[in-house]
Amino acid sequence: ASIYVFHGPNLNLLGTREPQHYGMRTLAEINQEVQGLAEQAGLNVECRQTNHEGDLLDWIQALMTEDFLILNPGAWTHTSYAIRDAISGVKVPTVEVHLSNIHARESFRETSLIAPVCLGQISGLGSEGYNLAMRFAIDYQIRRTK
Ligand code: DQA
Repeated sequence: ASIYVFHGPNLNLLGTREPQHYGMRTLAEINQEVQGLAEQAGLNVECRQTNHEGDLLDWIQALMTEDFLILNPGAWTHTSYAIRDAISGVKVPTVEVHLSNIHARESFRETSLIAPVCLGQISGLGSEGYNLAMRFAIDYQIRRTK
């Protein structure tokens, strides 16, 4: 079993993209920190980013129930029934992460189509949200293998 961290569209631009919403840290820096947490706990972790919805669907479909997914679906949060169906179809435990507080911005961001098939959602805590999700994922994976 592994922990996967998947980032959706435009998150490759972190560091320069609207830092007032998404902060100054790059995706590589965020990934390095979450990777460190998982490795300290002795768990496998893999981080990926894509701008192609079909890639993300294929990646989710290849997961196993025993895995754990930390997902920032980017704008697909608000549009993709297909990603939601992939998560519920595979039954992989998932935590949704957003850097910005999607409930405090434009009204189209308030609705997450993904949240109902996730264990929970972290939104508005910046890059720290990924670390918190990783800490949860580590505890969850250790608990379920006991
Ligand atoms: C985001 C929020 C989304 O509304 C937006 O489309 C993104 C990033 C976030 O991390 O705050 O691309 O998922």
